[in-house]
Amino acid sequence: MAVFSSLFSVPSGPAYFDSAASSLTCKAALEAMASYYSQDRANVHRGAHRYTRQASERYEAVYGKLASFFNATDQEFAAVRNSTEALNAVALGLDWKSGDEVVVTDVEHHSNLLPWLRLQKQGVKIRVLAADGQGRFQADDLSELLSRKTRLVSFTACSNVLGASVPVVDLAKAAQDAGALVCVDAAQYVGHHAVDLKKWPVDFLAFSGHKCFGPTGIGALFHREGSGLQPWFVGGGTVRDVTLKDYQLLEHREQFEAGTPAIAEWIGLGAALDVVSKIGCAAIEEHDRGLAEKMLSILQETDDVQVFGPTSAAEKSCALFAFSVKNVPHHQAAVMLDELGFAVRSGHHCAIPLTRKLAVEGTVRASLHAYNNEKQVEAFGNALEQVAQLA
Ligand SMILES: Cc1ncc(COP(=O)(O)O)c(C=O)c1O
Repeated sequence: MAVFSSLFSVPSGPAYFDSAASSLTCKAALEAMASYYSQDRANVHRGAHRYTRQASERYEAVYGKLASFFNATDQEFAAVRNSTEALNAVALGLDWKSGDEVVVTDVEHHSNLLPWLRLQKQGVKIRVLAADGQGRFQADDLSELLSRKTRLVSFTACSNVLGASVPVVDLAKAAQDAGALVCVDAAQYVGHHAVDLKKWPVDFLAFSGHKCFGPTGIGALFHREGSGLQPWFVGGGTVRDVTLKDYQLLEHREQFEAGTPAIAEWIGLGAALDVVSKIGCAAIEEHDRGLAEKMLSILQETDDVQVFGPTSAAEKSCALFAFSVKNVPHHQAAVMLDELGFAVRSGHHCAIPLTRKLAVEGTVRASLHAYNNEKQVEAFGNALEQVAQLA
């Protein structure tokens, strides 16, 4: 198994098994941000002095990186704080009519559920596509929910609880065939897999930099040209002309950039995407698969452990596992695992409807990434045995 950990800032304490909440940061992102702050510190797109020109150049270059990373154009991205903001931006930036319908799934993170539920106040109806017991979806089930009223279908590319592979293209095609817009929450997908937006028939895609080796406080929204998305914020940096009565927005992506952006973080995100490309998504997938196989067999072989989601590693989208240990509350199990050397998440993982469907109060979640290795997984098996002995 290839070792990529030297590219990351890895803490010296417990092994980091909480990448689905936030990945570790790559050193290149930290260096890019530090060099912006120490050498090019100025606002962007404002003024003419050399520092603002240098900062603007570095800032603009990130749009180009996004365009080549996702095979789209640089006009089709907007800088946002995170996936949550990107998904809200879509909900706030479309012109809804009473009677419109939005389809979501029953495995969504709250960030891909609440923005749509809120639209109910405007007369929008929410319909729900149910996953099977292991988190799988069928495009035919989606087709049954679609009608001429369906305005948008929004679904995750990978559940942050089940980690199951999602047939993104099949679902998106079914939705588009019915005339609906398609929005993909790729928070758990980007950084693990390549995304080719010329091949994915989707109109919107949201992701967070902090889950793909980048800094916190930055992410991006892809909005396909012609999607009809309107800016969700307006203000400085977005206008061609303003009077005291009205304003005229800039035409291209600048209209989506109200106010001073998160310049350092955006530059850091660009560096993080370069690291994903340098490792290569195929290599990350192979690494994830190796970890997933090992982790799944450990979880399945440990007495009194129940695993949620796919029972085979081949059906996992990444090395992400939610489980419970009989008679051991999830937070207690997480604290014990921390003491035994593993940082795992516990709780409902911002997916209360799914947690309810699984008929549990919460779960423990171990989520691994490129900087983890098989040795850590083996040691985790021993730690888990000790927790299970409390059962
Ligand atoms: C599937 C999914 N969607 C959306 C989000 C929200 O991401 P953020 O907190 O970066 O906005 C998360 C975060 O865990 C997630 O796992």
